[in-house]
Amino acid sequence: ILFLFYWFLGSRIFPGARGFLVWGSLGSNQGCGTHAAALVDNQVVDWCKEMMGFPATASGTLVSGGSMANIIGLTVARNAKAGIDVREHGVAGIDKPLRFYGSDQLHSCHRKAMEALGLGNRALRRIPSDAGLRIDIAALRAAIAEDREAGFKPACVIGTAGTVNTGAIDDLQALADLAAKEDLWFHVDGCIGALLAIAPENSHRVAGIERAASIALDPHKWLHAPFEVGCALIRDASAHRSTFAVTPEYLESTPRGLASGHWLHDFGLQTTRGFRALKVWMALREHGIEKFGRLIDQNIAQGHYLGALIEAEPALELAAPANVNIVCFRYRADGLDGGRLKALNTEIMLRLQEEGIAAISDTTVHGQHCLRVAINNHRTRRDDLDLLVRETVRLGQEISRAGTAG
Ligand SMILES: Cc1ncc(COP(=O)(O)O)c(C=O)c1O
Repeated sequence: ILFLFYWFLGSRIFPGARGFLVWGSLGSNQGCGTHAAALVDNQVVDWCKEMMGFPATASGTLVSGGSMANIIGLTVARNAKAGIDVREHGVAGIDKPLRFYGSDQLHSCHRKAMEALGLGNRALRRIPSDAGLRIDIAALRAAIAEDREAGFKPACVIGTAGTVNTGAIDDLQALADLAAKEDLWFHVDGCIGALLAIAPENSHRVAGIERAASIALDPHKWLHAPFEVGCALIRDASAHRSTFAVTPEYLESTPRGLASGHWLHDFGLQTTRGFRALKVWMALREHGIEKFGRLIDQNIAQGHYLGALIEAEPALELAAPANVNIVCFRYRADGLDGGRLKALNTEIMLRLQEEGIAAISDTTVHGQHCLRVAINNHRTRRDDLDLLVRETVRLGQEISRAGTAG
């Protein structure tokens, strides 16, 4: 067995796969109209709202994944805060340049979003993170004040609930307070951690997420849906709709029949789209939210278990505290400089993959290279983690002895 611990993939489950199969054979188009598939789509969005503690009046849309869900949220934020009709006049008509804020641990999709929104990468100000890799709130406050002074228009703060590097969760309550005080849109990138909200032992970690103006979450991660499915939620449904709705004559709604009711394509960029809701609907109907919550708690307990194994192993060291289910660590080798240590750890990672033991990834934390394990498979067992640690140490010793890295 090859254990998959790289990036943050979730795993796949049977009801999801069955939903995928049925979707393929039904051929429903989720862009338009009132039909059973569209109602299922609405129900999944409603369940996502409930899981996040959002009001029933909020809206949402299912998209291909977290990157698109973030783009949807940030597009609504831009339009709501621009002070002009951006859809009509474009970003060139905005009087003061908009500023968005997030920590230096933000996922790369936010950069792509800024570029796609016509604001440019520099409109996204990266705020240093603290020792726990969470956004430094005092530094954020100072940056907002400095930008106002310099003639920018602070528009949106992006909080991360679970960074891709270490799973760190920004202080969402403090961000919600600051956003309210500064009149900023508060978007939460919860692609990794938003679903902690349904995990009884860990939901406190994302307290405040329910105060966001928009949230991106990823059912294809911790709900184990087959790829692809992400979800964007927007508290203000009319801001959401007015960002995307266009009604050409061939898509006008009718009082009854297929073309009546809530048109899903009014809430995103796609017109025709597939029935991705079904695989999530089937999985939630079959297993229930509580079971997914318990499995998330289980992954977090496993993250802590792995962290403790690493702390107890003299040949290894943690690169950051194992807070949730992402564990960053390295093989230690006295006397090696940063470059050679990186080469040694990279070689360990590649051999773990090539020998079919485990697929882990690597990253840089606090400026230093490290190995990274994300435990988000419901099939993972503690034995697997014991084996991972044993094999990492064995490979580290072997490579060091042979001098084959660096
Ligand atoms: C924090 C965060 N945001 C956004 C994304 C992008 O999500 P997706 O790969 O579903 O587009 C990821 C992916 O892992 C992520 O970890």
